[in-house]
Amino acid sequence: MPENTFLKGPADWWRQAVIYQIYPRSFADGNGDGIGDLKGVLERVPYLKSLGIDAVWFSPFYPSALADGGYDVDDYRNIDPRIGTLEEFDQVLDALHNVGIRVIIDIVPNHSGSGHKWFQEALKAAPGSPERDRYIFRDGKGEHGEIRPSELVSHFGPTAWTRITEPDGTPGQWYMHLFASEQPDWNWDNEEVRADFRKTIKFWCDRGVDGYRVDVAHALIKDLKNGHLPERSSYDVKVMKKDGTDDLFDRDEVHEIYASWREIFNQYEPPRMGVAEAWVHGNRRPAYASEKGLGQSFNFDMLYAGWDLKKVKELAKNNLKAAAETGSSTTWVLSNHDVIRHVTRFAVPGIHDWARWYRENRFDPKLDLELGSARAKAMTMLLLALPGSTYMYQGEELGLPEVLDIQPKDMQDPSFFRNPEVGLSRDGCRVPLPWATSGSSFGFGTGGSHLPMPEWYGKYSVAAEDGQKGSFLEFYREIVALRKKLQTKEEIKWVGHGLFSKVIHFARPNGWQSITNFGSKPVKLPAGKLLSSSTPLVDGKLPANATAWLQA
Ligand code: NOJ
Ligand code: CA
Repeated sequence: MPENTFLKGPADWWRQAVIYQIYPRSFADGNGDGIGDLKGVLERVPYLKSLGIDAVWFSPFYPSALADGGYDVDDYRNIDPRIGTLEEFDQVLDALHNVGIRVIIDIVPNHSGSGHKWFQEALKAAPGSPERDRYIFRDGKGEHGEIRPSELVSHFGPTAWTRITEPDGTPGQWYMHLFASEQPDWNWDNEEVRADFRKTIKFWCDRGVDGYRVDVAHALIKDLKNGHLPERSSYDVKVMKKDGTDDLFDRDEVHEIYASWREIFNQYEPPRMGVAEAWVHGNRRPAYASEKGLGQSFNFDMLYAGWDLKKVKELAKNNLKAAAETGSSTTWVLSNHDVIRHVTRFAVPGIHDWARWYRENRFDPKLDLELGSARAKAMTMLLLALPGSTYMYQGEELGLPEVLDIQPKDMQDPSFFRNPEVGLSRDGCRVPLPWATSGSSFGFGTGGSHLPMPEWYGKYSVAAEDGQKGSFLEFYREIVALRKKLQTKEEIKWVGHGLFSKVIHFARPNGWQSITNFGSKPVKLPAGKLLSSSTPLVDGKLPANATAWLQA
């Protein structure tokens, strides 16, 4: 068995990496059916290489009924035929590895899709059977079991319980689903479920994947003992207990599962890694990022920090400290497939309630896209200069704004339809990428696209930006490459500029400095050689809403 090199050497590739998220259905369509696929990814490997990234993370590509964009997995060890085949996956993996790009894949362990073989078996089996025990089935309350077992609310809509029809045609038991009803929750107290996931983890590790992004990593273990069923009205981190004893989320026992996955990860050379999607209190994040567990944990704080000097600095400091506690490295995220793209977020400053803003303004959003783009670039440079890994979402390198005006008839997101009072759709960030300046789907494929693409999309296309000085794409390529050259020990020194200063300024051990101007007036740059700036300097000064990197 190779020695565990978790903390030193090639095994550390993920600690300060740039990881690019591919949402497969919307990246590139290789066969012209309007749905992105592995053939499309294979054709775009040179493009991915040109970005200078260290790894890609694939959102789910598994067979799925698409009740939740693929996060309803019907078969964990296969590829959706609309996306490709296992052979094509191997080809993509090889092609990416050959150009030095690692591959992380999504694993969805809290729930399967309702088309999963084991869920279908459970429906056909009797109450109390081993087949039903793999999921969370309970009898209903009331004389005929007609009242749901508890008042638990799902993340997508009113209830986390759905009643089934028993094989004999009578109304039957209920099953629990924290998300859509097509996403039945697994029962992680069941040893068969645990063993099957270990088999899945091994399956893809054997194929050569470098790591996993673990979906809702904090929800697997629930306190359902002695008939206890949570009566919860919210999936809100703020109401979650901070000590590992919450009914539903972030229970201490969940780490046993990741310890067993770590054992598998460490059987490979270099060891595989995991990154947890864990919506937990900051004090609880380090446990997921422990070297005894997954190794890394997402921090989504910057999604909500806005353009706010105090918040950004405080969050940066807290997250660096928390990651250091377990010997992990932190992660920085500005966008992903679940949130409004950050160019748009920065183009409407001062909004905190995004769902409300979206409901009320999406058809007339009054965006200041120039400001949004400037802040997006500045924040990207700031985060890239910090120790830790940066996760980027496909299209952010093009400066894509959110598509806000998708009509409900064209939407796919269950959270839009099932949470009408929230009314926020995630489809606007999942619109296929524009590769060409024109054409029915802007070069996404030769057919149409599964979500409508707006006519302004062409000007954000790869073709429009490639090789164009000053374009978003060239900006990303330049700073990602520069960061790679400058990369250094995971240390940071904050440089103070007085109480009323409007800058965030820090230095890395090799003299690499980053300074961001959060104020409204240009500021003087510190001493050093200018390496790059997100907006050109004005009279030698750093303009508002800009970041510069310098070498002291
Ligand atoms: C988090 C994923 O990012 C999101 O897209 C999905 O809807 C939920 N988990 C449920 O799997
Ligand atoms: Ca296709």
